[in-house]
This record gives sequence, C-alpha cells and structure tokens, in this order.
Amino acid sequence: MCGIIGYIGNKQALPVLIKGLRRLEYRGYDSAGVAVLDKEKIHRTRAVGKIDELAEKVKQEEILGTIGIAHTRWATHGGVTEDNAHPHFGKDGKLVLVHNGIIENYREIKEKLGDKHEYKSETDTEILAHLIESHYKGNLREAVEHALSHVRGTYGLVVMHADHPDSLITARLGSPLVVGVGEGEYYIASDATPMLTYTKKVIYLEDGEVAEISKDKMETFNLKDEVITKCVEEIEWDDEQAEKQGYDHFMLKEIFDQPTVFEDAIRGRYNLEEGAAHLGGLNMTVEEMRSVDRIILIACGTASYAAMVGKYAFERLAGIPTEVDVASEFRYRDPIVNEKTLVFGISQSGETADTIAALREAKRKGAYVRGIVNVVGSTIARETDGGSYIHAGPELAVASTKAYTNMIAIMMLYALQFGRLRRITPATGQRLLKALREIPAKMNQILEQADKIKAIAEKYKDYKDVFFLGRGINFPVALEGSLKLKEISYIHSEAYPGGEMKHGPIALLSEDFPVIGIMTKDQLYDKMRSNIEEIRARKAPLLLIATQGDEGAKELSDDVIYVPDTMELLEPLLNTIPLQIFAYHVAVMLGRDVDRPRNLAKSVTVE
Ligand code: M6R
Repeated sequence: MCGIIGYIGNKQALPVLIKGLRRLEYRGYDSAGVAVLDKEKIHRTRAVGKIDELAEKVKQEEILGTIGIAHTRWATHGGVTEDNAHPHFGKDGKLVLVHNGIIENYREIKEKLGDKHEYKSETDTEILAHLIESHYKGNLREAVEHALSHVRGTYGLVVMHADHPDSLITARLGSPLVVGVGEGEYYIASDATPMLTYTKKVIYLEDGEVAEISKDKMETFNLKDEVITKCVEEIEWDDEQAEKQGYDHFMLKEIFDQPTVFEDAIRGRYNLEEGAAHLGGLNMTVEEMRSVDRIILIACGTASYAAMVGKYAFERLAGIPTEVDVASEFRYRDPIVNEKTLVFGISQSGETADTIAALREAKRKGAYVRGIVNVVGSTIARETDGGSYIHAGPELAVASTKAYTNMIAIMMLYALQFGRLRRITPATGQRLLKALREIPAKMNQILEQADKIKAIAEKYKDYKDVFFLGRGINFPVALEGSLKLKEISYIHSEAYPGGEMKHGPIALLSEDFPVIGIMTKDQLYDKMRSNIEEIRARKAPLLLIATQGDEGAKELSDDVIYVPDTMELLEPLLNTIPLQIFAYHVAVMLGRDVDRPRNLAKSVTVE
C-alpha cells in the first residue's frame, strides 16, 4: 500500500510532488509527507490526514529545490501519527527516505544497530533509514545496496542525501516502482499516474534492482552491483483519462466508463464469422491448450467475484473443470497443480501481493501461469508468461467497478477460445459474440436509470444491515453488490445463494433487514422466485433486480430495477451495474468518502 514519489530535474520539486501524491492517494491516505533538498538543507513537512492537509501545511513555508521525495501512507507498522508519517530521516538528519512495503526483520536490525540510535517513530522504515546511514561511507548507492542485503521483506524506496544534491537512489523488491523519463528530469513513483502529465516514457524497475538517478542519467544495478540495461517503454494512458472528467467522484466516472471500456476490451479479439476468439497474448500452442485439464482462477476481492463468473464460462463453454481460489488461501494450502493446469491471476492493479505470491507458487509447481490484468507493466503482467490486458483504463476509486466487468469480458473470450478448440460449434460461438457486442448498449440503458436508482438508494440508506441474494451465475453478483455496499457505505451486508437462506440466515430477517435479490430470467428464475416469496413472507423490505418485462417482479417487491435481457452467461455484466450505482448513492447520501473509504487502499501490496 502506500504511494511514493521522487523527482529530480529543473522544475520546483514541491508542486510536482504534491500533485503526484494526489494521484497516488488511492494507495493510502492516513498521512502524507514531503522532503525537498534546497542546497544542503532538507525541508521535511508531514501531516496526518489527506493530501489536502499536507498541501495546506506546505503553503505556510517557503520550500525551494529541484530534488525531492514524498509519500502517502497506509499504516502497517505504527499508528497514524505525524511522527510515523514518511519521509524518515536517519540519525544525523542528512539521509531521508520514503518506503512502501514491510521490513520483516526490523527488530533484528534495530538490535544490531545498538543503543546509539534514537528513533522518533514506531516504523520499520525509520530503522531502514538508520541502517542505510550506518553503511554510508561517501557513496550513497553502495550504502543502499549494502543495507538492503541485510533486509528481509519488501520495499519500493527512494533515498535522498544532503551531501548528494544531484542524485536519488531508488530500489525495489516486491513493491512496484516506475521511473518516468523526461527531458533533463526523472520521476520515480509507485505507479505511472503521477508522471502522466509530464511524460509517457517509463522504465519499470524489477525486483532486486537499484537505480542511481540524476537529472540527465539513470543507471541501474542488481544487488551484486552489476550494471543492468533497461528498456524505455511508452504508456498508452493519457493524463485526461486519469482525471474525473466532470463527475463528482472517480467511482461514478468509472461506473459510467463501462460501456466504452467494455468495447475496448473486446475490440479486435474475436472473429464473428468463425464464432471464435483469439487473444494473442496467451502464448500457448494449440496442443498445449488442448492438454489443459484444469483451470484455476486466482484473485482477491472484486476480482475473485469476476473469477467466479469466469468459472461458469470456462466450464460451460470449454468443459474444463475450473476452480476459483482466493489468493491468500491458495498460497498457504499446498495446492495441487501440475503441468496440465492453467492458472490465471486476475487483478486490476497487477500488484496485489497475495495474488503475486500465489502465481509464483503455481509457477514453481509447473503450471501454465497467465495474467488477466489492467495496469500495463505491473508485476503480474511482467511475471506471468502471457495473458491479456483488460483495457479498462486507469481505475482510481478504491472500489473496483469497470475492472470487474472487463475482467469478465476477457474471461468470456478466453473460455470461447478454449471452447472452440474442444466442444462448441461456430454457431454457439457466434451467439455468444453477438450477445457480447450488445452489452455496451445494454449497459447504457441501465446507466440511463441512474436517477431512479438514486431515488431507491434514498429509501434504503438508513438500514443498518442488508442481505444480497442471488443464485447460479448471479451469486457472484450478490457477493459483488454486497462488497460494494459495505466497503464504501460501511453498512453491514452479507451475500448468500438464495437456496441457502433457509439453512440459517433467514432467522435474521425482519422489517429492519432489507433484501436485495437478483431475480433475472435465467434457468434458476423459478427457484429464485420461490426464495423471494419466502422472504416476502417474513416482511423484509425487498428490492429486486429483474429482467425488463417481468411485471410479476413488481408485485412481489417494494422496488424493482429492470435490466435488459441477455444470455445467462452474460447476466453479471449487466446485473452488477445497478448495484454499483445503488452502493455509490447510498455512500454519498451518508456522507462517506466514496473514492477513499476508511481503512482501505486501492492496491494491497502487503500480505
Ligand atoms: O488490484 P486487484 O484487482 O488485485 O485488487 C483486488 C482487491 O483488492 C480489490 O478488488 C478490492 O476488493 C476492491 N476494494 C473491491 O472494490
């Protein structure tokens, strides 16, 4: 979690750093800080709270200098206090650093450093600053390299030293770092969004690499001090894509982005005449694809609910047994994986620590490991042996929306690609593709109902508990609707398969416990309807997501949101959208910080 940024060049560093922190704020936002080197003096300012607090504070000082570092924090070690906020100094006030990650052996290091060191914070990072300083003998990069050889854990860090006004040292192990290449200037950050205003040219640092960066030059080394040649890559996202474009919140913008980015996800990746999909990045021969006898989809949070929809697609279209594994569980349960297993890591950020570790484990065991990822050049994108980008564009709200629908789109296409090699006919493939092509227009029909959904949200916003119910392919929709509501509105909510209610949860129902049911016209419609009748009998307020034209849904419920009809497999692509809009409006009405909900961070880069 946490976002770090560094700048060296000809511009004043402070405005660049503050603006960059705003872009990174989704990664952590309990406190923030900045350090700028002006001649030989380091000015450090830190503040608890959002970047606005820091921005206010720095206005009160004159901070000049063209080299600096900054950090937005999501607390891991030590509470949320100004003392614990980064940047952290070493002992003599000349070395200062920002860090994203966890130094696991910080206690051991502290002990070894001995009593001469006094610490001002409770953080592992401050100990790292002291450790680097203790190795410093005039060459900052060497000091960083030596110190890091004693460290266990993860880090993305940028180090600045008052005696080295012309360089920044940056290093990465397990936490993302991107270097932006400008004209006579460099940017270093946890992801590319802070540098998009200035440059599209980037260099991705790999684990175990250390770079020494001056305003005209970047040199990269491994921990054995050998020089490494790096490639400059061009990123596609523009600055505007990363802005709110007139919406009140990134989340709302991203919900409304869905029809457009869905088209981006599927464009050029299928052939309607052949009823086939061809995602180029899979990097598997036809024989290898035929040899796959099991698929495992590894993900966390919203991505795991998208994966649950993907399971239906892989099993129905390709006939390949498919499991969904929550990454944090997979990595610790000695999973059975072999050379006939295809493992997909599904992740918006491509930086989720548990997903990365699970994929590494699968790779070690010989599986084919591929990624379905949004952020270009992210760790999962680089560490997997192929896969596809979902082309959702920058997703900045902590609550994931458009990444979810695009992940499903890509899994549908992969399932079709495998399915056409194994069992399904061109006609079946064509039916799926035609239905997929209709999805953006149907999404728009739902988005047009945003005001109606807002009015419904007003009626439900004061309840303390909510149930989400779905069956079959709509059970993951219920899970996702529930997650959206709880993470941004802080209302307690639970999701169950409709058929499970009478095995216990129904005891909770009352007039104060509303149920949101997904009851669209699929093969389980009648079963779901019976479950809804059972709820009706318990007098729980009832909001239904139903298929357009289902007049009966009105009689059965207090409120209905209608969605267009589509193929059963594609229903989650539509049915989830009203639940995103519902959660959004409830949260806004309750005065929540929708884009940056409490206790959460956009990418969970720690275990
Ligand atoms: O970046 P990833 O897709 O790997 O992130 C996975 C989860 O952390 C993420 O989906 C999380 O659950 C979101 N807050 C959901 O809105």
